[in-house]
Amino acid sequence: AQLHGAAKTAGLLYFGTETESVSFGDAAYQAALKGNNDFGQITPGNSMKWDSIQPAPNTFSFTAGDAIANLATANNQLLRCHNLVWHQQLPAWVSGGNWTAASLTAVLQNHITTEVTHYKGNCYAWDVVNEALNDNGTFRNDVFFNTLGMEYIKIAFQAAAAADPAAKLYYNDFGTEFPGVKSTAAQGIVKMLKAASIKIDGVGFQAHFTVGGTPSVATQVTNMQAFTALGVEVAITELDIRMTLPQTDALLAQQKTDYQTTAAACLATKNCVGLTVWDFDDKYSWIESTFPGTGSGDLMDATVTKKPAYFGVLQAF
Ligand code: XIL
Repeated sequence: AQLHGAAKTAGLLYFGTETESVSFGDAAYQAALKGNNDFGQITPGNSMKWDSIQPAPNTFSFTAGDAIANLATANNQLLRCHNLVWHQQLPAWVSGGNWTAASLTAVLQNHITTEVTHYKGNCYAWDVVNEALNDNGTFRNDVFFNTLGMEYIKIAFQAAAAADPAAKLYYNDFGTEFPGVKSTAAQGIVKMLKAASIKIDGVGFQAHFTVGGTPSVATQVTNMQAFTALGVEVAITELDIRMTLPQTDALLAQQKTDYQTTAAACLATKNCVGLTVWDFDDKYSWIESTFPGTGSGDLMDATVTKKPAYFGVLQAF
């Protein structure tokens, strides 16, 4: 059995990975990405984000995003589209703009309508709003919240729903994988949209974990069930489990257990549709540059060799 094949047999929709065009010339990586029925879904790491898609006002650039969408088609993989509204990788003309509520609403609607329309029919799901919350459960004071308050979330989901009614519309965040104020606040976003009769279909849990720091199966299941009880599906959207370097056999063994835990939690949650790793290969991970002193967070090493973690996921299925 392989990851995606085993996930499907176990009842999930997909097992997938983040990827980017930096790997396009890497034959070993591409063979692992498309071969073996390991990855039935891909997510672009960067190329559908605002700075890539609309770097200047009303100047749209779809080349990089199209390359990932085309790869999904060529490989017969589902595509999770990521993301429409986020405080990071947001060009300065947006984050530093001098907006009124009306002018920022128009910019948001134009961005979302244009991008979602361009990829209409390609996206299994869209991460419509990414990381709107602070860890204490309050809304992040980014340009969207500062200018529009919580209305920006409604505006974003409404525009996405109008542009591609078939795509599943997700709220995506980290630190929401276990019960607590941030998870409760994310449930509040779902409730707010549902109360306004605005379409939201899913909630994504990024799951950027550390070795030994993964919430238990029961904790993750209980948490995800609080969301599915509101009438949305859930997914693990950016799973990786970093360790403090140097890598040791003991850390690899714990990492295997940790990957198995999150895969098992999704499997045990009705309406958890799938898991996506935030790249499967350490060579292309964002971890080492973002969290200095840590690394080795992915299922395979830089030579595309499977680590114990790979077999941990397989065991969960
Ligand atoms: C990361 C990418 O992997 C990096 O290449 C980029 O430099 C920064 O963003 N949460 C998210 C993802 O929702 O979009 C982020 O991706 C990782 C954290």
